[in-house]
Order: sequence, then structure tokens, then C-alpha cells
Amino acid sequence: MRIIIEKLTELKRLINEHNINYYIHDKPIISDSEYDELLRELIKIEEKFPELVTQDSPTQRVGASPLSSFNTIEHRIPMLSLANAMNNGEIKDFDKQIKKFLSTEDEIEYTCEPKLDGLAVELVYENGIFQYGSTRGNGVTGEDITQNLRSIKSIPLKILDNTPPILLEIRGEVFINHNDFEKLNLSRLKNGEQPFANPRNCAAGSLRQLDSKISASRPLKINCYAFGVLDGVEFDSHSDFLNQLPKWGFPVNNLIKTGNGKEFLIQFKENIESLRENLKYDIDGVVFKVNSLKKQNELGNRSRSPRWAIAGKFKSRQATTVINNIIASVGRTGAVTPVAQLEPVKVGGVIVSNATLHNQDEIDRKDVRVGDTVIIQRAGDVIPEVVMVIIAKRKQKSIPYILPTHCPECKSEIIKSEGEVVARCQNFTCPAQIKGRLKHFVSKNCMDIDGFGEKLVEQLVDNNIISNISDIFQLEINDIKNLDRQGEKSAQNTIDSIDKSKTATLSRFIHGLGIRNVGEHASKILEKKFHTLENIISADLENLLEIHEVGEIMAKSITDFFSNQINIEMINNCIHHGLNFELGSKTNSNKFEGISFVFTGSLIELKRSEAKKIVEENGGQVGASISKKTNFVVAGENAGSKLKKAKDQNIPIISEIEFIKLLK
Ligand code: IVH
Repeated sequence: MRIIIEKLTELKRLINEHNINYYIHDKPIISDSEYDELLRELIKIEEKFPELVTQDSPTQRVGASPLSSFNTIEHRIPMLSLANAMNNGEIKDFDKQIKKFLSTEDEIEYTCEPKLDGLAVELVYENGIFQYGSTRGNGVTGEDITQNLRSIKSIPLKILDNTPPILLEIRGEVFINHNDFEKLNLSRLKNGEQPFANPRNCAAGSLRQLDSKISASRPLKINCYAFGVLDGVEFDSHSDFLNQLPKWGFPVNNLIKTGNGKEFLIQFKENIESLRENLKYDIDGVVFKVNSLKKQNELGNRSRSPRWAIAGKFKSRQATTVINNIIASVGRTGAVTPVAQLEPVKVGGVIVSNATLHNQDEIDRKDVRVGDTVIIQRAGDVIPEVVMVIIAKRKQKSIPYILPTHCPECKSEIIKSEGEVVARCQNFTCPAQIKGRLKHFVSKNCMDIDGFGEKLVEQLVDNNIISNISDIFQLEINDIKNLDRQGEKSAQNTIDSIDKSKTATLSRFIHGLGIRNVGEHASKILEKKFHTLENIISADLENLLEIHEVGEIMAKSITDFFSNQINIEMINNCIHHGLNFELGSKTNSNKFEGISFVFTGSLIELKRSEAKKIVEENGGQVGASISKKTNFVVAGENAGSKLKKAKDQNIPIISEIEFIKLLK
């Protein structure tokens, strides 16, 4: 047995080392197949001796069973956001204020970093072992995405340190490179799935998968740049901390520089802005941080952002092109949006051929006409827009643009109600609205029906096969397989996905109904408050207004929607065809009601996230740190500071086995 354990340890060490050579130093020293061979050898031994599988084994990156929803995790230290400096003047002001606050004339030393456009996460290590990780969320609490983070190979499961700190909270940005993003979108298109709008959405969507196997299949990367709580290690400066990160095995961006004074900041920003188009990943600015941690402490935080750091924003990316045509596009609520069809032009590495003109008022204000030469811009996530017309280049015969009076899709009248800026097609059965509603229903954030892309919705509506959401649940393989670009296999996959979606959560269904003013967040609140669809349908204005987050406009939209008999029939049809909601927050028993647990150290029987799920499914709570509310501390192996704190505060401490026994 000793020989086997030694062999296992050596294999894990080797695989870890190769991971670091590959992901941190970008210099693999063995081939992919040699690496796979090591991994296979490890798997073989672990299969034979499952009792020897440890949490930090490279085999534990994938394989956890899908979750029904994410748990929440409270950050021990809030994850703040950053204030913005929009131009060089504001960068100078930032430096001036820091000097004033610190009462010094000396130049300040700063660390300057690119601001990656991905998703901020926190990784928590106890005694060097990765325990759990979360999204930034609202800054105070985030979602527990431990399983998905484990699947990112450049995140160490065990840090490289013989005397690891007791507690290490590392923060960074998860992102995806442009070429990986494009490859992924291409394969999604091939499978009839909707492509991601941009790399940021792709990274965020991939990280928030309930099935970690999906996250594992996405080539996500991470760059680390900050810390939360540190226990057992200290640094003098931010740059010292950043220098230590790769030694522990965490990837750090390679463009980071440290230097003195405001001119250094301005220079850094200009330099990174000039590199922007050639980088492999998206950035939306730079971040300047006071380097000395002592000075950072002195400066402290404002309510939502630190005083010692600021983001330097880049200019929006603009380009000049010509408007070939203006069309009126009709959305799922009937809203008619004028869209400029452009001579395709590259803006910040992306080819843009459409830009929104928002509404008639905007068109009038900017006096945009077909044939005009215009400046367009892309800023962050938003749809490209027309900034202004270059009047000097206008053709003589051009005429002002006026939105059509009738819907281009169904020819019914377009009406702009008093006080509204948006004009709407009033015909509920307009094909454009039907398609819009169906696309929304099947989309990622609603029923998330895999393989049911926009193209398929259009084909099915155009062929009169479906016209409302309940028709989706009556689809058969023959309805799909003969459509263009479909086949027996992809049709079967889509039918399977539809079947799978029948147990979606109630909140996803509510969101999917497309009730005006009811988005994802409101849908979750409705589920939490009313538990069943029947309760939501029968809620009156008064019941709805009792909910803190629901205002009059939303409450009215909800009651209007459910007092329409057509909607009720459609919902009944869905249920008749097997829709059977799963509640987002399942409760198996009330065994742990009112009891708050804190877990510390490595658990053997259960994964940390499984233990958390068990507590929550039985009505209890799990805290990230010990507080007055903590009733039990469950101590696993190598428990550290939390165990000590629990002893000091006389909080009952139980072992993992005792915890499992409590359940039974
Ligand atoms: S430092 C208190 N450094 O920007 C300091 N943030 O607006 C907080 N971000 O949520 C973060 N690159 O998602 C920091 N090099 C970097 C960053 C960075 C991107 C993001 C991060 C954060 C947001 C703050």
C-alpha cells in the first residue's frame, strides 16, 4: 500500500507541475499525449483504490453531479468595484487626492494592470487546498461555483508551498480568449445553438452552468489580481503579492507594471490602449493601484470602491461607415426599433453591419438618413449605435427617415401611446412577436432548451408548426427532422432537451412567459414568495404589492397577464403536456431549521458543496465564517483558524462523521 500511495503522490505532483508549466509559464515540457498518459495512470490507480482519492487530485476537476441551483456564499471581505477615471484629467485628480489624503508631496508608487473584461471570482484555500469559490455577485454574497472553478485547469487545486498559509482568498477574473470564443461559437452555430454575443457573456455563461461538465468543456482562463482574507502570510506591497502568485501556481497577467507618479499612469494607459486590438483577450481599461499595502490601509474604502485604486477607461471604439438602409425590427413585445444596415466595418476587431437607432425621437435628434456617412461606436456589451452623421458627406437628394406606420411583418398599425417613446405593433399574433416570444422562452436564461436556437424557432413558425410556447411541448421528431439543416439525430436531441426542460424551475418558466416588466430577478422572487404557479396566477394586486421588490407597474403587468384567458389556456396546455416544475430551493426536511453550520478543513466523505447543499435542503444555513449565529463547526482534516476560533468561542465542534450521523 505504501508504494501505491507514493506512486499516487508522485503522479499528482508531476501532473500539477506540468499544469503549471503549461498554464502559468506557457512552456509545456511534455507532449499532450504524455500528459494524458500520466492522467490515465492516475485514474487507473484511483479506480482501484477509491479510498485514496483526495480533493486536490487532478481527477477531481470534473465529474461532480449537476446541481439544481447555486448556493450563495458570503464573502468574508466584500468584493468592491472600482471608480472610473474617464480621461487624463481624472487620472491626475486621482493622484492628487491620494497625495492629499496621505499628506505627502512625494510621488506615489502604483501598480498598473490591464482591466480584463470577464467575470470576477474568489477562490478560497485552507492550508493550501482549494475549498470553494464564488462569483462576485452583489459584492457581499456571490454564487457557489466551486465545481465549475475546479474544472478550470489553470486554477491550482493545491498551491505549491510546503508551509501554506492557513487561509488564502485569491480574487481574479475568469475570461476566454478571442480564438477560443470564435471556435466555440462556430461549433454552437453548427449545432443549431445560439452563439454567445461576446467573450464576456461566454465566460459568464460558462461559469454559471449547473452541470460542471459543460463548464469543463469551455476553455476558460483566469488571471489573479487581488486578495480577500490572508491568514499566515503577509506582504508589504501589492507587487510583492503579485510576484508570489505564480510561485503558488496562480496565473497573473504579463503586462502589469509598477512605477511612480501620474505621468507613469498616463503612459501605461496609452501603451495598453495601443496594444488593445492585438491582445488575445478583451480588456475595457486599466486599473491603477497604490502599491504599498500600508498606504492602501490608510486610504481605506468608500462605500462601494476603494480609495486606493481606480479604473482608467478607454475611449469607446468608433468607426466611420455608410448607412445602406434603415429597417424597422419588431421585438417580442411589439416594440419597433429602427436598425441601420451598414456597409460592414471593423470596430475594435469585430465586424459590425447593424447599429441601433433606438427610436424615432433619436433619429430626429441626430437627423439620420439612408445614404448618410456616420460615426458608429461599440462600448462594452451594448449593441453598436450611431453616434452622429457627418453632414458634409450627405448626398443632396437624401430625405429624413420616418418609421413605417404599419408593421413590416404583419401590416397591422404601429401605435405610439401617449408619453411613450417606443412605437409598438399591436397585433399579438404578429409573426415577429410570436418568434420573439418563443426565442425568449427557449433561451439560456429562461427554459434553456439546448439545441433550440433562433433559426429553429423561425423555421417552425414560418412552417406554421408552432405559434405559442405550449406548442413546443407537443413537438414530435417528424416536425423537426425534415427542416433545412436538421436531421434525425439533431431532431432527437432537441426533443430530448424539450423533455428535460419540463422539470425546469418555476422561476425559469415565469421568466420565459415574457410578462412585461418581469425579468429574471423578479421571477425568482415570485417563486420564492408564492411557491406554486397556481398561487402566482391567483395573486391579486394587493398580494403582489406586499412584496418589497414589486412595484405598481410590475404588479399590474402580472395581473394583466394572468387575467388574459389566452395566457391561462396556454399555461394549462404546457402542464397538460408534462411540464412539472422543480422549485429552485428544494427543502427535504426541516431537520436543520434555524441551525447554522460552518465547515472547516478538508472533508473526506463529502465535497464541501455537497455538505452545504445537504444543510440547505434540510432547512439549515452554512456560513463562510464563524459568527454569533454559528451553532456548529464541522471540522475536517487540517482544520485551521476557524477551528481555533470555534474553540475560543465555545462553539460546539463536530467531526464530519458526526455531521453525517446528525442527518440520519
Ligand atoms: S481590482 C477593490 N484588478 O473590475 C479592487 N479588478 O470594477 C477590485 N477587474 O469586479 C478589483 N481586471 O471584475 C481589479 N486587474 C484588475 C481587474 C479588475 C478586471 C474587474 C473585476 C472587478 C471590476 C471592478
